[in-house]
Amino acid sequence: MTDVVRLERLGAIALVTVNNPPVNALGVAVRQGLLHALRAAEADAEVRAVALVCAGNTFFAGADIKEFGQPPQAPALPEVIAAIEACTKPCVAAIHGTALGGGLEVALGCHYRIARADAKVGLPEVKLGLLPGAGGTQRLPRLAGVAKALEMIVGGQPIGAAEALEHRIVDELFDGDPRAAALAYAQRLLDEGRGPRRTGELSVPGTDSAELIAARHAEVAKRTPGLFAPLRCIAAVDAATRLPLAEGLERERQLFLECLHSPQRAALVHAFFAERQASKIADLPAATRPREIATAAVIGGGTMGVGIALCFANAGVPVKLLEVGEEALQRALQRARDTCAVSVRRGSLSESEMERRLALIAGVTDYAALAEVDLVVEAVFEDMAVKQQVFERLDAVCKPGAILASNTSSLDLNQIAAFTRRPEDVVGLHFFSPANVMRLLEVVRGARTSHAVLATAMAIGKRLKKVAVVVGVCDGFVGNRMLFQYGREAEFLLEEGATPQQVDGALRTFGMAMGPFAVRDLSGLDIGQAIRKRQRAILPAHLTFPTVADRLCAAGMLGQKTGVGYYRYEPGNRTPLENPALAPVLEAASREKGLERQTLDERYIVERCLYALVNEGAKILEEGIAQRSSDIDLIYLNGYGFPAWRGGPMFYADSVGLDKVLATVKELHARCGDWWKPAPLLEKLAAEGRTFSGWQPAHHSGEQA
Ligand code: 3HC
Ligand code: NAI
Repeated sequence: MTDVVRLERLGAIALVTVNNPPVNALGVAVRQGLLHALRAAEADAEVRAVALVCAGNTFFAGADIKEFGQPPQAPALPEVIAAIEACTKPCVAAIHGTALGGGLEVALGCHYRIARADAKVGLPEVKLGLLPGAGGTQRLPRLAGVAKALEMIVGGQPIGAAEALEHRIVDELFDGDPRAAALAYAQRLLDEGRGPRRTGELSVPGTDSAELIAARHAEVAKRTPGLFAPLRCIAAVDAATRLPLAEGLERERQLFLECLHSPQRAALVHAFFAERQASKIADLPAATRPREIATAAVIGGGTMGVGIALCFANAGVPVKLLEVGEEALQRALQRARDTCAVSVRRGSLSESEMERRLALIAGVTDYAALAEVDLVVEAVFEDMAVKQQVFERLDAVCKPGAILASNTSSLDLNQIAAFTRRPEDVVGLHFFSPANVMRLLEVVRGARTSHAVLATAMAIGKRLKKVAVVVGVCDGFVGNRMLFQYGREAEFLLEEGATPQQVDGALRTFGMAMGPFAVRDLSGLDIGQAIRKRQRAILPAHLTFPTVADRLCAAGMLGQKTGVGYYRYEPGNRTPLENPALAPVLEAASREKGLERQTLDERYIVERCLYALVNEGAKILEEGIAQRSSDIDLIYLNGYGFPAWRGGPMFYADSVGLDKVLATVKELHARCGDWWKPAPLLEKLAAEGRTFSGWQPAHHSGEQA
């Protein structure tokens, strides 16, 4: 029929096969092909049943996300699905891989659905700031009931085939080849004389829909008040419970279009593609093969080491955990067990799975045990002398070809690599705390890191289910280097007259998961002290620093661990309360700078903190420390609690307009001094009316920055 849709007639069965790699997205060619195939099958008097399958790894993974924001092209997906549902001959879809979004909606439009036992089905549109816009909100509740439909549509998590069967979303499971299963099922329909069975003609089961909808509405309004799509998902499901199909579909369409045109949808789609882009490394030859990683080791069983060892164990990779002595080792192993036990208590991990994972972690104290491992991640104290000792030992004992990685958060990776005779095998794997939970992994590419080692580091990131982003060597890499600017400006705001509550509140209203002062209290104010000292030693003398954090440290107010920091905490309770001892500290800090304390407005607070991120991000981009602006966004979305629906700091700046951002940066430069010197790239792009997303470094496009 077309390049992507093939129609075969096999006796009385019309077999429609879609082949649109890589994920059979329902782009315009597929929609056209499906409609043609269906019309041809309908018109062919010999055809008595229709079977729909996809070639490749998966059933349709949804609408073609690349088409969002482009002018619509006919036929629209709802039209195609309406034609399938209206077909006078029974249609069966055979699902394998993942039937997601519009993909599941196509299946729901078919009269019968069968799924391979390992398949998944879901309506993840909400994660892209959308709702299912091709009948999913109307048809799923009719099959599975309101409770399940709300869970799948508002939560966006796919479910397995067995669960789908339990909830009447599919009729039967199969194993093996989808094509053979589809044909066999279609033949059974014919043999048993079963005709079309239209989902749209069912009514929504259950009598408690109104209560379920009200409860979900209240929960979403409380938990994610800033999000646009979830409440609209609920409104669309509500329509299914009240309206006949045609009117419900119309309501769904209206709500879908509202979401489609919302800035949140654009930001979330940006985040989706940013994640896929990040694995592409411009100068890595296509033939680069990652090395095989069958076993790993972690040096240092502290906060990070234990979390990293768990990452490997969770991914099924045997890992050796090395500590300095037996006592420290036992403490580390116990911490690993305690961490898993929390998941068992919460019900997200079974006892037997915990034991299986812990058995993959072998505690050792002797470097000789590391001779055969394929990858070592060092997570010892942040001290160059200790790192030197460790890397020299690793160089001496590890087999040729083993990858030697450091989890350092601020030390010079090139210097660490130089402690070995194989700097090409050294790479940074910068995990974030807690390492077994946080998705972000900065893969630090040293000056001499080889292509194969970089490719392996990225592959390991994927295997550990991390979002791996390549960064270059500089103080703080991407995330912490930018955070330094953000944290400093937040502190300056305290000197100008704000309270921690005001700053944290304004940034939370913007969408940040936590405010900067609550974060500092959580991690401990002493942690930043070493970094501040180092920065003072190396940065130009005319740059002034805020002093509140140092004053709190000097007074022993280190945050949650001392019960008092920017906030005060009751024992055993993490709720931040006002710290009465803070006001004199803030006043003294303001006085020292000759500042009269003022009331600051929210917008000023947000701009001051966010534009500090953006200006530094622009420098990072221009220096080539990050490959592209979406990589910076990804780092902030996955490691720093930046709201996904704002797309990340660089995307946010693009959406504000770089000319406006620059104008504010210039004002701040004039008023607050050289911390705010505009990044040359920001000036250039603003002058040319361009965006960070549209800019590529010279080696990508041949353009000179
Ligand atoms: N549209 C366009 N491209 C898509 C796509 C889609 N729906 N889904 C995946 N792709 C692309 C990716 O960008 C990537 O392209 P690249 O190779 O050029 O980078 C390629 O397909 C492979 O994707 P992944 O790297 O993500 O492959 P995985 O095998 O890891 O995962 C997947 C496969 C589970 C299908 C995952 O890609 C996914 O979750 N896709 C999105 C599913 C989704 O959100 N569907 C709903 C779309 S909205 C919709 O349907 C609206 C409707 O209601 C009207
Ligand atoms: P930690 O102090 O909790 O743990 C360090 C561990 O290393 C201790 O258990 C210590 O006994 C062990 N150790 C010290 N010298 C050793 C040696 N020679 N051989 C074997 N073990 C040795 O420190 P933490 O927080 O786990 O940090 C480790 C590394 O991870 C540092 O480089 C740090 O900068 C980095 N990092 C820390 C993050 C955090 O949030 N804590 C986040 C990201 C990176």
